[in-house]
Amino acid sequence: MAKKFFVTTPIYYVNDIPHVGHAYSTIGADVLARFKRACGLEVFFLTGTDEHGQKVEKAAKEKGFDTPRAFVDSIVPHFKEAWRVLDITYDRFIRTTDEDHKAVAAEFWKRVQAAGYIEKRGYEGWYCMYEEAFHLEKDLVQPGNLCPECGRPVQRMKEENYFFKLTAFKDRLKAFLAANPDLVQPESRRNEVLGSYLAAEDGVQDVSISRSTLKWGIPVPGDPQQVIYVWFDALLNYLTATGWPAVGYKDLWPADVHIIGKEILRFHAVLWPAMLEAAGEQAPKRVFGTGWIVNDGKKMSKSLGNVVDPIDWSNRYGSEVLRYYLLREIPFGLDGSISESGIEGRYNAELANGLGNLLSRGAALCEKNQVVFTAWDGPQDGDGELLAAARSMQRVYLLSMESLAFHDALEAVNELIRAANKYVDERAPWTLAKDKSPEGQRTLAHVLYCVAEAGRLCLVALAPVMPKTADKGLALLGYPSGSVFGERSEAKGAGLDKLLAWGLLPAGTQLTKGEGLFPRREAVKA
Ligand code: MSP
Repeated sequence: MAKKFFVTTPIYYVNDIPHVGHAYSTIGADVLARFKRACGLEVFFLTGTDEHGQKVEKAAKEKGFDTPRAFVDSIVPHFKEAWRVLDITYDRFIRTTDEDHKAVAAEFWKRVQAAGYIEKRGYEGWYCMYEEAFHLEKDLVQPGNLCPECGRPVQRMKEENYFFKLTAFKDRLKAFLAANPDLVQPESRRNEVLGSYLAAEDGVQDVSISRSTLKWGIPVPGDPQQVIYVWFDALLNYLTATGWPAVGYKDLWPADVHIIGKEILRFHAVLWPAMLEAAGEQAPKRVFGTGWIVNDGKKMSKSLGNVVDPIDWSNRYGSEVLRYYLLREIPFGLDGSISESGIEGRYNAELANGLGNLLSRGAALCEKNQVVFTAWDGPQDGDGELLAAARSMQRVYLLSMESLAFHDALEAVNELIRAANKYVDERAPWTLAKDKSPEGQRTLAHVLYCVAEAGRLCLVALAPVMPKTADKGLALLGYPSGSVFGERSEAKGAGLDKLLAWGLLPAGTQLTKGEGLFPRREAVKA
């Protein structure tokens, strides 16, 4: 079987319900998955939840659950519901508590151990039982050896942990990154890995990959007193989903792209490739680190009460508008701020007044003058700028989507929308309509064809981001719903890349006004 395009999101901690930051990386991955499907590729899109570890165990206790399992089972449906509302077309929702994942984690551990990269070492230090954490002697509060965090007395503790010999991979990682410039993206993140982590003397240390003080985790093979460290466990989700080690996992592995937030870059760009190398497996092809979103310039936090709930914003603005806004507003890979006035502004300026206006003006004129299109009849004087804008959109859009520069792709679409609205103003079809001679009517039909064709290109390009809106818009241009792209954006005929060519709107097309794609919104009611 041919290799499928394999895209992943981080698997999210289930210590709380999802917020807009989780939605952001998931929407980015969904748009890429839909884009690839729309171009005719077979795609496997993985997301899920990271359920083990101290943080989750603690949250379960605090929230009064009898077991961590009962707690995580109560949170997972919230993630699934958010992804339903946002139309996320994942192929698998993996949970690290899934049986196949536990088996993969154990098997992978054994292979790394057999290869000599796992070692049991004594670890001695000052331990705060309350916090379940070691502290350095120099940080203790004196007199009395008190915990620097909670002020309780710490105790001298000796813990035997398993260590992964990450240091053995430092030079190989450096060479690998140098030879694979696309591995870590965008460029700024790659520099971070090469510059900060791999260049620094102590930037790479052996990692403790087991915990003996924790019960909520996957047991270490051969030593059930310990559980596997939550990151060692979590990263392996990407391999579990491929069916590894069973024959056929290479239909998916290596992953084409792991989309992650910048704060977990080190785990994905250093620890993960080293783990894979230790087990004799290939590194992922690409790790893309997104930036961090803040709400109106402020970090989101429960105590500030400004955490954005993606379901709430979807209910208020429409889930497709939220998808559009997040990817349009913040360059994928950089930090950015979102706000209600921001989403409102983009909606009005770009969707309602931009594309919506273009399509409704074109359709109204077509209906009024009963225009039936002939096939594309070649360029006329006055078309130059519009045709150049269409060519440029096609080129910039495709390149940008390939490199996950969604903001650039959407800017290219907006440039074409602006060029098309300007074209309407300049060619003034309402004036052309007054000339009832056959030639006058032909010119009118030509101009309206150009308007509709520009609209078609924009809708096709928007389809991975706003699938339902694009489908509705294409229906106004005469394409029956579901005939261009399927529900998961799979190509029904020619792929999206081919459909961006100018002049494909067929002869016989009659535009219909229908209901507006983007009704004007009232000012937001708080
Ligand atoms: N469970 C780990 C990941 C394991 S992957 C093998 C984890 N989970 S998390 O719940 O904390 O989610 C992290 C991811 O959520 C980030 O990497 C990022 O993609 C996304 N975001 C969470 N908050 C965010 C913002 N405020 N802004 C943008 N994205 C952020 O780490």
